[in-house]
Amino acid sequence: MLNYCSEIGKRYIGSIMGEGFPEPDAVDIFATEGGTAAMRYIFDTLFANRLLAPGDSIAIMAPVFTPYLNIADLPMYGLNKVLVEADGTFPNGSHSWQFSDEQIDKLRDPSIKLLVCINPTNPPSVRIADETIARIEKIVHEDNPNLIIITDDVYSTFIDGFRSLSAVIPQNTILVYSYSKYFGATGWRLGVITTARDTVLDKLLAALPDETKEILRARYSLSTDDADSLTFAQRLVADSRDVALNHTAGISGPQQVQLALFSLFDILDTEKSYRKAAQGLVADRLNALLEGLDSTLTPDPLRTGYYIEIDFLSFAKRHYPTEFVEFLEKTYEPADVLFRLAAQAETVALNGSGFDGPPWSIRLSLANLNAEDYRTIGKAIRKGRRGVRRRVESLCLSPRDTLVEIDRGQEL
Ligand SMILES: Cc1ncc(COP(=O)(O)O)c(C=O)c1O
Repeated sequence: MLNYCSEIGKRYIGSIMGEGFPEPDAVDIFATEGGTAAMRYIFDTLFANRLLAPGDSIAIMAPVFTPYLNIADLPMYGLNKVLVEADGTFPNGSHSWQFSDEQIDKLRDPSIKLLVCINPTNPPSVRIADETIARIEKIVHEDNPNLIIITDDVYSTFIDGFRSLSAVIPQNTILVYSYSKYFGATGWRLGVITTARDTVLDKLLAALPDETKEILRARYSLSTDDADSLTFAQRLVADSRDVALNHTAGISGPQQVQLALFSLFDILDTEKSYRKAAQGLVADRLNALLEGLDSTLTPDPLRTGYYIEIDFLSFAKRHYPTEFVEFLEKTYEPADVLFRLAAQAETVALNGSGFDGPPWSIRLSLANLNAEDYRTIGKAIRKGRRGVRRRVESLCLSPRDTLVEIDRGQEL
């Protein structure tokens, strides 16, 4: 990266990742064509350097941004996925989308080489609880010290009190950050990867067997005659252009300048008025959606609310008679909800199963439309619910007065 753009980028990242993120001179930063390119480059370098190999186990915290699932399944990578599932619930049975200790404890297994973590999560859009982050830290210290963690924190600025794994255990983490979300700048393709200079990645590289080092000396011979001393961060840049296939690496000068301007804008906004406005914008849209739906959500200080994942089966189980839930599962496919929304309300939502989330869940993004549009979408979903009520009535499953109750303001 250009010197000043890199310095400014590091300072911005340091300012949003929370206490403990290494000082600028203890961090390497590489600007990429958005977060998606960052992900690809990281996996390429991990594989090129034999830090990952086909058949290795990687843990993925799910539900998760689909490309991470796809990457693991690519035949050229052939990784064994271990899902760490957001199985947490609130006392009323609705999803909190947090992770139980049992799920996190899967990471104790040292055969798991990599953890993919998105924080705040996508699609559930909650910040991972501090206790869970502390548990991961403890597991790394006590059971799995070589665990490599990709922490993808592209939604970090949408919630207060955020502290990234890259600040808690910088030695083990590779951070992915994108400017697409907070600055509404997807088309600019601005992302960064950061790694701490003191990183377990370099220790793992140094410990590679001699024959692997020999292969890697040949791989990087066009860049250096001392390949052994190339750091992971340097290899990442070289691999991003297949060492010599592209003559240049990284994003263009104008893109880097735009990245620096966005970073400066936030650093200099000491009142954080833009941050409050951006958070307020998605919060207003979520409220409009809920009003349209005539539903509520369990209050949750960890909810980021950039997306919302609605699990219709969980809702039905909590609010409708068991006979109806059975009828629903027997008569419909989870995708019917999506097709109905598309046909009746011209609304495109994504199915939760695509994220390895609950099959009857859908994800709505609160990033794209005006608040009023979300009210309309909420009403459209609610209309479906009235249809459900009529169906329950027609099945004579429950006394009428109960049915009137179940159509009002329940928690999603
Ligand atoms: C978790 C996560 N990482 C990365 C990206 C990709 O961002 P970019 O637009 O910078 O490629 C997204 C976009 O949805 C995302 O949700």
